Parts: sequence; C-alpha cells; structure tokens
Amino acid sequence: MTRKIKIFDTTLRDGEQSPGASMNTEEKLVVARELLRLNVDVIEAGFPISSPGDFESVRRIAELAGDNATVCALTRAVKKDIDSAADALKYAKRPRIHTGIGVSPSHIHDKLKMTEDQVVERAIECVSYAKQFVDDVEFYAEDAGRSDYDFLVRVIQAVVDAGATVVNIPDTTGFSLPEEYGRRIKYLRDNVRGIENVDISVHCHNDLGMATALAMAGVRNGATQIECTINGLGERAGNTAMEEVVMAIRMHGEELDAHTDVNTREFVKASRLVSSITGMNVQANKAIVGANAFAHSSGIHQDGVLKQRSTYEIIDPEEVGAGQSKIILTARSGHAALKHRLIELGYEFEKDELDKIYEAFLDLADKKKEVFDEDLESLVNEREREAAA
Ligand code: KIV
Ligand code: ZN
Repeated sequence: MTRKIKIFDTTLRDGEQSPGASMNTEEKLVVARELLRLNVDVIEAGFPISSPGDFESVRRIAELAGDNATVCALTRAVKKDIDSAADALKYAKRPRIHTGIGVSPSHIHDKLKMTEDQVVERAIECVSYAKQFVDDVEFYAEDAGRSDYDFLVRVIQAVVDAGATVVNIPDTTGFSLPEEYGRRIKYLRDNVRGIENVDISVHCHNDLGMATALAMAGVRNGATQIECTINGLGERAGNTAMEEVVMAIRMHGEELDAHTDVNTREFVKASRLVSSITGMNVQANKAIVGANAFAHSSGIHQDGVLKQRSTYEIIDPEEVGAGQSKIILTARSGHAALKHRLIELGYEFEKDELDKIYEAFLDLADKKKEVFDEDLESLVNEREREAAA
C-alpha cells in the first residue's frame, strides 16, 4: 500500500480570503457538505476570532462534520484567538487548532518586530496553550518558503517537542521554486528529531503559477498532508488547487508512493458549486475542471481521440465527473470529427456526399468560432434539398 496523503481543504478559510469571494455561514455549510462528499480529511472551516459570522461557521461545520472529517480553526499565536477557536470547536468530534507565527526575516523583523528567540518562545507557548484544549494541534511557520533553513529547523523542533501533531511549512508568498521547496521539506525531515511522528503539511501559493508543482515537490520529499482549495481559490493568485494535486497523485501514485482518499468524481460538481457561490469564474482552460479540460477542436487531435481516447487525454473525464470528452467542431476539424458527429445525430453518408457536406461545413466554420448541432442539421437539409433539385 502506498503512503496516504491527507487532503486539508482550506476553501472556507484561505480560499475565502480571496478578494470578492467571501461566503456567509449558510453558503459555507453548503460548501462543507460538498467537502464531506469529496471525502477530504480536514476542513479548515474559518478563523473564529475574525468575526462572529466566522465563529458561527466553524461551530456549525464542526457539528455537521461529526466523525467524517477533522474540523480545523485558524488562530494567530495569541491566547484570545486560541480561546475563541477552542470555543468554536467545542462540539467537534475531531477538532484541530491551527496556530502559528511568521518565521522569515521579513515577518520577524518588519511585521512582528521580535527577535528570533522571542518567536521560538511564542511558538512553544501557543502550541502548549492550544494543547490544553485539543490533542490535535497544527503549527504553521508562516513564510517558511523565505526563511533561513536552520532557524526553521529550530522553530519546528521546538513545536514538535511541545506536542504539535502537524507542522505546516507554507510558501506564503509563492516565491519558491519546486526543487528548492522540496529540499526544504527534506532538510526538516533530516534534521528535526521526532518529525517522523507528525504530519508534514505543504501549503503553497500560486504567485508564480507553481502552487501545484510546489505541493508535489513537498510530497516527493516526505510531506504527508497537502493544504489546498477547490479551483485554487485563495489570496492573490490563489492556493494549490485540490483537483490538480489529487489527480497528479492519482496519475503518478506508484512513482510517488502516494495516494489520497478523495472522491474525484465530485470534482466538477464541487468546482461549479464554489464558483457559483463565490462568483469567481473558472477559466476555460483550467486543468481538470475547466470547460475545455476535455474538449478537442483541432482535426489531428480529434482524429486521435476518436481512434483511441488516451492518445490526447491522460484522464478519463468520468473520473472527475466531467462526463464525456467533447469534440468541438471548428474550422480546424477534419472529416473524421464531422463524420463522427453526423453519425451521433443519426446521419450516415457515402464518401462523396460527406466530402460535399465537409466543404459547406468549412465555409461556415470559417465564419463562426464553433459549429453547433443545429448548424449541421441546416447544412444537411440544404444538401438534401440541392440533391433533390
Ligand atoms: O499562507 C499562509 O502562510 C497561511 C497560513 C496562515 C497558514 O495561509
Ligand atoms: Zn495561505
């Protein structure tokens, strides 16, 4: 059996921090139900101290999830935040407090105005304090991607010794290159005593368009939890997209010695749901869930797919809930695609007749972006009228 990689969904916390994507409690509950259908391991339901609405969302999602998922609440390394999170998680069957502090030079000196020693002390204090309320405490080392390797080891060693069950190594600004981020995860594995007893979590942002690649580099180097969102929703350019990392693990599971327990057949449904609730459109060419993810419009590709789907498709669209591959008829389509579509519509023609329809089809296709079924029906009717005249 390969290593289980836990999927930690943060659509309702980091995803919701995306400008314009905020959700009310009822909307968050709808998304949480979908996350349960996806069978994610952890739902980060919100940041309870930030507003009464967020507190209420965490409380209700904790009740809803029962035994089916760990429910997590975010805090700063501040006691009143941890009190609020513990309160919101009171009825959770599997509660987790996610607390942490910045560890890069810019966070320590410019934002926090603390010394390195003070940061380590505060990290220990907040983990120990959270442990009084729940067994499962995740520590995030904010901006770990730009931190000094040895200082990061020092902080992570301190929180592992203080009882953290998960250590989150965020690339908060999406700055890292995948190889370098992977090296950082390995460095922690090689240098923190007892790290094999906790989960190493990767939390990556997409500022350079590499959030998925970064998470995968983390998994290759020993991470056992991925933090991600539906559609890659999140601050600025977003977070790692759940559908992308889960399918990448599915496609390369043996090589990575990894699997997840996510129900991938829910992906398209989950994507549409989050998009309609947040109003954040999904680009047509988005991997896995975009409208064009399984659409083929060039003649060469259409011919290949019609002969053998896997020639140009690495994933069966049904596996992600996308139905069938789509053949889009355009001026780049060839005879094979036109014939295929006509047969689906109930028309079969001899070669000469099909050639004539194809000519008329190309004339029309040069004038429009896409030729639809009703256009084909008109072409066929016209051709039949001409033949009868
Ligand atoms: O990006 C980040 O560092 C975060 C932490 C709060 C986990 O979202
Ligand atoms: Zn984040």
